[in-house]
Amino acid sequence: MKDFKMQIAEKIAEVTSIDVNEIKGYIEIPKDANMGDYAFPCFSLAKSLRKAPQMIATEIKEKIDITDTDIETVEIAGGYLNFTISKDELAKVVLEEIALKNEEYGKSDIGNGKKIVIDYSAPNIAKPFHIGHLRSTVIGGALYNIYKYLGYTVTGINHLGDYGTQFGKLIEGYKLWGQEYNIEENPIEELTKIYIRINEACKQDEQVLENCRNNFKKLEDGDKYCTEVWEKFRSLSLKEFKKVYELLGSKFDSWNGEAFYSDKMPEVIDILSKTGRLVESQGAKIIDLESEGINTPCIIEKSNGSTTYATRDLAAILYRARTYDFDKALYVTSYEQVLHFKQVFEVAKLLGLDEKYAKGLEHVAFGMVLLPTGKMSTREGNVVKLEELLNEAISKVKEIIEEKNPDFTQGEKQDIAKKVGIGAVIFNDLSGSRIKDEIFDWDTMLNFNGETGPYIQYTYVRTNSVLKKAGYLPEIKDIDFSRLTDKEAQNVLKLIYSFTNIIEQATVKNEPSVIARFLIDLSKAYSSFYNENKIIVEDKAIQDARVYLTHATNLVLKNGAKLLGIDMPEKM
Ligand code: ARG
Repeated sequence: MKDFKMQIAEKIAEVTSIDVNEIKGYIEIPKDANMGDYAFPCFSLAKSLRKAPQMIATEIKEKIDITDTDIETVEIAGGYLNFTISKDELAKVVLEEIALKNEEYGKSDIGNGKKIVIDYSAPNIAKPFHIGHLRSTVIGGALYNIYKYLGYTVTGINHLGDYGTQFGKLIEGYKLWGQEYNIEENPIEELTKIYIRINEACKQDEQVLENCRNNFKKLEDGDKYCTEVWEKFRSLSLKEFKKVYELLGSKFDSWNGEAFYSDKMPEVIDILSKTGRLVESQGAKIIDLESEGINTPCIIEKSNGSTTYATRDLAAILYRARTYDFDKALYVTSYEQVLHFKQVFEVAKLLGLDEKYAKGLEHVAFGMVLLPTGKMSTREGNVVKLEELLNEAISKVKEIIEEKNPDFTQGEKQDIAKKVGIGAVIFNDLSGSRIKDEIFDWDTMLNFNGETGPYIQYTYVRTNSVLKKAGYLPEIKDIDFSRLTDKEAQNVLKLIYSFTNIIEQATVKNEPSVIARFLIDLSKAYSSFYNENKIIVEDKAIQDARVYLTHATNLVLKNGAKLLGIDMPEKM
């Protein structure tokens, strides 16, 4: 697609002899459309040209030659030069690209040849899949789709928490009282009960605790009974987790959890020992990171000889570097793990891998999920079952649909309720910048007129009705682009034009909210266009152009939502 910003940059570069890419980097899109389509802040050159911004602006304006370009006007405003682009040309460029690419509009290949590993979701087996894991699942899943759309080779990994001394305890509890609990039916709840009970027993009886420790050791050594029971816990938990993944449409390429690395840790310890940085401290093996500016040491092996969460992450880095040869490895967890990843990423530099791997490690942290009543956390006891929560979203929407569209069939109502209910939860998760705490409030996220998932879906459905009412899609060669020069149509076009760039921005900061924001802006812009203009009109040329713009909006809303993991209902 034509790059208008580049056209402007080239023209400015011609008359200033400053590098065109440097110029391009300075060009902004003014918030207020009255200030033009693009603005060049002349003060960014004041230093290198040794002139006042105002003077630079005057000189560029005098010298610049815009014949044979799509630049229509150049105006001076303070130290800025404001440019407008031909409105017809914008419409032509955008709609022709839509006609050419259809469902693939906005796709790019800038990621070709680059490999990204995304570690997300990662609930802990035999424990509830909590709302923090939901956020990780949704953010990680969106990043997965976004990177793929830009041509990267992406591997999604569910680094399940399926390892640790607690399994020694669970195995013991199961051995003692397994018959009393229906863990097949309700694995997580029943295992949690067993876990609480065995912990009590351990406090009462030193021997029980000893048995638990032995079980974990046996598990590590591949003991048949312990391994069987552990596998049972794992597969029952996974069965439960998959209900949530099914509802959210989550996909993973690898389910290698922490246990997968149990035989890969000795190598880590070996490599670290040889660096001379691994030291003994109160019986444990640690790496002091004071000199790297991290005050808490990274514990590699506990005093009882067992490995840690950090060691498993280090083994995973070795494995992933060798297996996936990643350019970037993202870890999507709440900000509570900031210190953990700082330590692990620092120690990773000592693993003897090529520098590029340590450089590619990145913690994509996000804020807490807050219920209107406070923090949702399993530790504080107010466990929210995710599957129930998602089903609640679906049934709430179903009620609304029953009321609004009683004559839809049951099947239609169910399909819409699922897409809108789940879409609302996902959008709520992604709409603010990820590091901000998220407020989980049904009324806000299900408001069809707010900045919500349902609002975007509703706008999409509206474009569907317009297209249905028109009953045809005009051919692109018949479109008279000069019919789309009104302010509202131009706003829609500018947004659609920016789509690829928006997707790229989302990857620069690993911030799906950039796309969420875009979808809200596009929905609002289309609503204004729709309110200001009749689309089905006498004048065929006007109608064709407006119908085509509606078609373009329809495609982009659907593609954009899909990147976030949100499906569009065809009606609602
Ligand atoms: N299971 C961990 C938790 O629930 C998250 C794992 C994140 N990934 C990783 N490679 N450490 O907190």
